[in-house]
Formats: sequence, structure tokens, C-alpha cells
Amino acid sequence: MKRTGKLGALLVLSAILLVTSACGKNNNNNNAEPSKAAASSAAAPSSEAPASEPAAPADKQISMGFAQVGAESGWRTANTDSIQSAAKEAGIDLKFSDAQQKQENQIKAIRSYIQQKVDVIAFSPVVESGWDTVLKEAKDAGIPVILTDRAVDSKDTSLYVTFMGSDFVEEGRMAGTWLADQYKDTAEDINIVELQGTTGSAPANDRKAGFAEKIAANPHLKVIASQTGDFTRAKGKEVMQAFLKANKDIDVLYAHNDDMALGAIQAIEAAGLKPGVDIKIISVDGVKDGMTAAAEGKINYIVECNPLLGPLLMQTAKDLLDGKEPPKRIVTPDGTFTSEQAKEALPNRKY
Ligand code: AHR
Repeated sequence: MKRTGKLGALLVLSAILLVTSACGKNNNNNNAEPSKAAASSAAAPSSEAPASEPAAPADKQISMGFAQVGAESGWRTANTDSIQSAAKEAGIDLKFSDAQQKQENQIKAIRSYIQQKVDVIAFSPVVESGWDTVLKEAKDAGIPVILTDRAVDSKDTSLYVTFMGSDFVEEGRMAGTWLADQYKDTAEDINIVELQGTTGSAPANDRKAGFAEKIAANPHLKVIASQTGDFTRAKGKEVMQAFLKANKDIDVLYAHNDDMALGAIQAIEAAGLKPGVDIKIISVDGVKDGMTAAAEGKINYIVECNPLLGPLLMQTAKDLLDGKEPPKRIVTPDGTFTSEQAKEALPNRKY
């Protein structure tokens, strides 16, 4: 089946609408740069490229192998729920595996999906590097691969069909922009500690880079310590305890996700300090527990990362197996929340 330019545009638009409608309430905040997410989704056209042949007959149930990162955070749980429920809804036979944050487990799972001859493989890579061999094996077996949530750094982009998920650099920029604005008139040094996500993962690399870019212009904004908390609450608490021990005057914590911020809050409170007041806190995700802490004033600013990728993933897989070529990059839109906005949004928060 050949796809016309008009139909292609409609597909991209419906994919974006699916994500946007699944995404709770995105707010606008004057402190944050406007998200370029929606614009760059639309700007990733597959243009007039000829559609490939349908990979599965119309009446056959589609089978999908999904290799998940793990269950490290509230965000991940919401993402897994979204994928599993959307597969059910779409009548897709989902084979699901949890890699427990280990790349070797994901590689094993992908190889097993290749052996099972699934119609399509999707995964959210734990880290960015080291995927070429297994992706080549999938390609040689004629199984298309969809990347969700996190990117790979493979030079050969023909190894996957599309990558859908947030723009993590932009998320880091939104966090940095807010902070730079809060301290634009400061005459004193502001000591920042950073809890990074999993070492080598796309969100850790990109959120760090985007944040650094936006605070760079003000020499008073100093990152005095930066260490991984592996995106978990337990590690976030442990590393924050170490930060507090080693540094007397911490003004700001930038955590790459809510779970690490929540762990850090426990450490800050145990040290007799007031989170959100004595130490300002910025985090990324916007899951219910994070939003609750923000509504209570313990987290000052949250940059949203939308985990509800299931419906978009299932629709994309169906389209692909119908012979339609998806855009190479689908950026899902994210909002931001101050404490006040979190309080307002909390009653309708879905995850
Ligand atoms: O890849 C998305 C990140 O992974 C989320 O921000 C974090 O909570 C999760 O573990």
C-alpha cells in the first residue's frame, strides 16, 4: 500500500494527538522555555518515501516483544502500565520482559524475541551505547525495531524504524532556565548538587547537558557535586546523605527524576533541614508522589516527562505492519509545574 503525503501528515498528527490526550494537563509556565516538542514531532516527516510491504497479513494477530528497562521508578511503573494496557486494548500479543536495569538482560530478551520471530520489537534502552550487534541481528531477521523513551547512539539509524519519547535535553534546559531565572540577581555563589540518572543512559546524559547549558551564563551558579542515584529512591537518599556530609552549604538540588528527589528529601529532613526552603529542589517526571511533594512545597519545580507511550507505540506498530513508514523521530510534549501548579494539577493526575 502506497502512502500519500497527506495521509502521512494525518498519521503524524494523530500520533501526536494520541500522546497529547494521554498526557494529563500540560501547563504553560513563563519561566520555562516553550517546549519545542510538538514542533519537532511535526517536523520529522517521512515525506514521500515509498511505504514498505506489509510485514503481517491483516487478519493475523500482531506479536510484539517489549524489553523494558526495569521497575526503578514511579515513571517506569506508569510506562509499563501504559504499554501493557494499550497492547491489550489494541489486541496485540505482547511479550514483556523486565531487564532490571541491566543491558545484558535487555540484549538477551531481544535475542529471544528474534528467535520467537515476533512481528515487531520495541525497547527502551537502559544505556545509549552498545546496541549495534543485536540491532543488526534483528534487522537481518527482518524484524523492525521501535525505540521508546530512550535513544541509542548507533551511527547506523537504519537499525531502528523510529524513536518516540521526550526530548531530554530540552527537559534539562527547562530545569536550568527556571533556576537561572530564580537567581538572576544573586550576588552570592549558589551551591548546586546534582543527582544524575543511570550512568550512560540518555536521560542522564541529556538532562545534565541541557541544565548545564542554561546555567552556564551565570558564574554564581555552581554545581559543586554531581553523582548518579540510578533513578531510584534508595540511591537518591544515600547519595544525598553523602552530599550533605561533605558540603555544608547546599542551596539547590537538581534531581534527574522525582524518585531520587523523594529519597533526597528524606535525607534532607533527617539532617534537620527543610526541603524546598533550606534547599531548593528541581526534579523531572511529574509522577503523583513527586507532584504531591511539590504541592507540599518540598519540591519547587518539576519538569514533566510523559510516560504514557503505550497507545502511540501500539498505533505505530500497527501502521508499520500495514506498510506505513512512521517519522524517524516522534517527540512527545512535556510541561512544567511550580508548587502552585502542582497543587492544581494533582487531583487529575493519572499516574
Ligand atoms: O527514561 C525516562 C526516565 O527513566 C525517567 O525520567 C525516570 O524516572 C526513569 O527511571
